[in-house]
Amino acid sequence: MTHEVDLSVKVSGVIFENPLILSEGPLTGDARLIERAASHKLGGICTKSIRQDAAVSANPYMIAANGGLINADWTSIGFDAWLKELDKLHLSKPLMTNVGTNYTPPQKAAELADVLEQHGATFVSFSDYEPENLVETVRYARKNVKVPIMVKLPPFVKNIGDLCRRLEDAGVSMIAAMDAVGPAMDIDPETRRPVLGCNGAFGYLSAAPIFPLTLAYIAEIAANVSVPVLGVGGVSKTEDVIKMIMAGATCVGMVGTPVLKGLEVFDKIESGLRTWMAEHNVRSFDEIRGCALPYIHGAERTDLRARVDESLCVGCGLCTKSCYCGALSMADGKAQVNYEYCSGCGVCQTVCPKRAVRVGK
Ligand SMILES: Cc1cc2nc3c(=O)[nH]c(=O)nc-3n(C[C@H](O)[C@H](O)[C@H](O)COP(=O)(O)O)c2cc1C
Repeated sequence: MTHEVDLSVKVSGVIFENPLILSEGPLTGDARLIERAASHKLGGICTKSIRQDAAVSANPYMIAANGGLINADWTSIGFDAWLKELDKLHLSKPLMTNVGTNYTPPQKAAELADVLEQHGATFVSFSDYEPENLVETVRYARKNVKVPIMVKLPPFVKNIGDLCRRLEDAGVSMIAAMDAVGPAMDIDPETRRPVLGCNGAFGYLSAAPIFPLTLAYIAEIAANVSVPVLGVGGVSKTEDVIKMIMAGATCVGMVGTPVLKGLEVFDKIESGLRTWMAEHNVRSFDEIRGCALPYIHGAERTDLRARVDESLCVGCGLCTKSCYCGALSMADGKAQVNYEYCSGCGVCQTVCPKRAVRVGK
């Protein structure tokens, strides 16, 4: 029997065919790139940040490093050119136009968003490394803009709950987090020089290495607001999308992974989501959204220890290598635990590829 699953999500009356969003970045820098992206299985698209004036970035401005991507990408075709690009689009998916308020004061950014709405934006969005600018921009934008308003937050905002509630009061429709993390850099040992070409050689890190940081941030934001949350930062596979939704996200965005691996990653993840939902008897994301949140401040235990299910153990020995206290060893091709030494730290259960080791009672 086939299990019918519904991947769609709804935000402020706008329907996304699935929760996957191509977030602000180089893959959405003009109409040609946006149309190319739209042929993939994603639910919505955010433009690259739209600046008033055109800007170019010093080469090189995007580099693969340590499994992630570091960028110093300030490129924009400029506002007037963007309006022409938007007029060329024939999209059947929601389009979120983004104004980076780092370069545009709040009142002006709101005015630009108003014009972008008239050129087909389904959502208007703002991002800024200075979060207070976002509150002010949303207040201005709410006066004229009719479509939903999104903001994308920088990483590591202190008192994030307070900020999110003020954004909600100002009239925000969805909160996205987070922007790339920095400063970050890389050095080529052969040339003995920094790899990024910008002045200062610093950029911002994104893709897989930042995922656990974003997941914690999304859980904290989702616990504090009632508006939908878009989790972006480090997502690279189906399992990450599921985790983001369990932490409270409604939509899940990516930039770094599709830059490194191609836009096909959206098709692969969309198919992975269908399979996961069917296998776990989940028909809609409403059934799992935020399901991890009640446990974040749950009761703490200190009496749990590693337990090995011998029927699942394949004898790979990975758990023994990660056991800092020397409690796990191999006997007759199976892992075994010495309870005199086990502290229940938990690394073993996360390195076991078969879920044969679990920390429990
Ligand atoms: C090359 C590059 C360019 C980006 N440009 C923008 C931008 O113009 N505006 C913006 O708000 N965020 C921009 N971002 C940040 C992403 O939208 C996203 O928040 C961040 O990279 C984390 O997601 P990821 O780990 O999936 O890349 C850019 C990211 C990358 C990698």
